[in-house]
Amino acid sequence: MTAAARLLMAALLGIITATSAVAQSPTLTITGPNASRSYTQEALLANPTVRSITVTDAIYHRPMTYRAIPLPELLKGTAIGADDYLQARAIDNFSVSIPGSLVTANSAEIEGFLAVETPAAPWPPLPGKPDKASAGPFYIVWRLVPPARVSPEYWAYRLAAIAVTESPLKRWPGLAVDADVPAGDPIRIGLDRYVALCMACHRFNGEGEGGQGPDLGRPMNVTDYFQIPALKKFIRDPSSVRRWPEQKMAGYDRTTLSDSDLDAIVDWLAYKAKQKR
Ligand code: HEC
Repeated sequence: MTAAARLLMAALLGIITATSAVAQSPTLTITGPNASRSYTQEALLANPTVRSITVTDAIYHRPMTYRAIPLPELLKGTAIGADDYLQARAIDNFSVSIPGSLVTANSAEIEGFLAVETPAAPWPPLPGKPDKASAGPFYIVWRLVPPARVSPEYWAYRLAAIAVTESPLKRWPGLAVDADVPAGDPIRIGLDRYVALCMACHRFNGEGEGGQGPDLGRPMNVTDYFQIPALKKFIRDPSSVRRWPEQKMAGYDRTTLSDSDLDAIVDWLAYKAKQKR
């Protein structure tokens, strides 16, 4: 190939790549028990139930105004059972399970919305993320009347897909605690917090689908090789225990994980280490 031909090739390839980048408008896929639908950003913004809402944003840490569709409207026609969950999956595959009961009907105190970024007026970069990207293109936000609150992880940003699933404990019964552990026991609270906060990245004894972090149960349970105070310190702030350049886990301050919830997670991990399998 001559130099001129090579240049021409490079130019053509450049045009092809640029065109496909423009053509790729982000889409959101919603998967119910029987069907899957995909919506472009434009289609969602044109939805007749879109409105402007202002929320006290748990991720941006300030009031934010969005173009948004109420979740019950977005999910109309998708069968969601009383015990089902919505698995909200981000572009990078990070996923969080939101109880379906929170999204099938909005109450006066807790209203869930899908916020849709408007290409002409993009949202600011997410605070604390080095990549400078926003929470868009799709972001689950909550309008709350205090003291009502939802777990901060239910503010699911950079969404690519929403799928109806059975409850995590039905899908992964190996995480459960025995029936003789009373309701309200810290071990049960720990399981609940583990499912909400940690499962997105970790498996436990192979259960779950998180793949970013190590399995916390096997081959060895973390409570069998971490000293408990160091384990708690690690969960609060991993870099206070050890550091390296590619470190990923962010840690949990007291606003996202109270001291008693942190203790409860470790209680559940330790309980599972001893439970007969
Ligand atoms: C965003 C993904 C993510 C979430 C959410 C997450 N972790 Fe991690 N975790 C990781 C990664 C990745 C590592 C491996 C070390 C690293 O890269 O930071 C890790 C490491 C760990 C370790 C150290 C294990 C070892 O043997 O070195 C523990 C313990 C741990 N996580 C506990 C938790 C707990 C408990 C939660 C929930 C409160 C949690 N993690 C939530 C990603 C996550």
